[in-house]
Amino acid sequence: NPRVATASANANIALIKYWGKADEELIIPRASSLSLTLDGLTSRTTVEFFDKVDGEEDADVAGGSGSGVDCREIYDYIKSADSLTIDDVPQQGKALDRVSRFLDIVRAQSGLHLPARVVSHNTVPFGAGLASSASAFAALAAAASKAAGMDLSPRDLSRLARRGSGSACRSVFGGLVQWHAGHDDETSYAEPVDMGSLDLAVIVVLVSSDLKPVSSREAMRRTVATSPLYPAWVESCAVDLDEALNAIRQGDLERLGAITEANAFGMHAAMMASRPAVLYWLPDTVAVLRAVDGIRDSGLGAWSTMDAGPNVKVLADARDARAVAAALRERVPQCEVEIHRPGSGVRLH
Ligand code: DP6
Repeated sequence: NPRVATASANANIALIKYWGKADEELIIPRASSLSLTLDGLTSRTTVEFFDKVDGEEDADVAGGSGSGVDCREIYDYIKSADSLTIDDVPQQGKALDRVSRFLDIVRAQSGLHLPARVVSHNTVPFGAGLASSASAFAALAAAASKAAGMDLSPRDLSRLARRGSGSACRSVFGGLVQWHAGHDDETSYAEPVDMGSLDLAVIVVLVSSDLKPVSSREAMRRTVATSPLYPAWVESCAVDLDEALNAIRQGDLERLGAITEANAFGMHAAMMASRPAVLYWLPDTVAVLRAVDGIRDSGLGAWSTMDAGPNVKVLADARDARAVAAALRERVPQCEVEIHRPGSGVRLH
């Protein structure tokens, strides 16, 4: 069946963060960002477009223009037959709605106006600030576009994935990836960055896998709209990105780590200055941040970064990863610690 496709994608962790949209509908960010795609945090998604709704022959509906029926009604009818299963649990409400709206973009671009079944399996703790939407929408974009008969270039696939979740555009590629903010749908896309001599690892320190109190989408909106620190943070991102790219070219992990850590702290400072404040940190988040500081003082290279959640990710040289992980286990024994290496981009199965 040509209307089925399966794709996998890995999560990515931003070294220079994306936080805040210039365009909410198209998901155009206020600033460019830089990330590392990680192995072992994967979404695998199958999309099947089908032309029978409730056992009826519905092929007519798919092509049904000129019948005098409002297209919007037909499209809403098609959409109402979409289904979504995540890790064997059928989804309704918000999650299904977000996927359905994404499928509408694929339907509009491909001209294939059919409902779809989406089945996804994840090794990403859902909603725990481990960038689950990035792997999810990168895999969904690849599977849905392929199932709909489109053959997108990697760049166009990243533009499509971006419409589902901004950070997903970076998960289309493996290793280090830059998302060019751009100014419209055409110019906002991700692109791989040469890793040069860097041999990176990210140690994920799980502080909590509880659902976050505020979604990143809402928190982002609030920061842009109310934080007096936000404009300064956006300005700092351009400088940080330039310096990070330079550090990468020179294979200077020490500088890359320092910029990464500073950029994440700046983003959280801007969040915390929102009204009302957005505070994702838990007491153990601070304990881990202090542990990373201590590990660095002891002579090991380790730099922290945090996303929209309480967990800490620690950037290190791959050759130091085991030692850094062991030191973290000793200093914050209450937290789970996992080493991740750079991962590949999206793959079709
Ligand atoms: C803190 O990509 O999840 O992880 O575009 O609204 O879906 P939406 O947001 P999302 O935000 C990720 C924010 C971040 C930083 C980053 O990954 O760059």
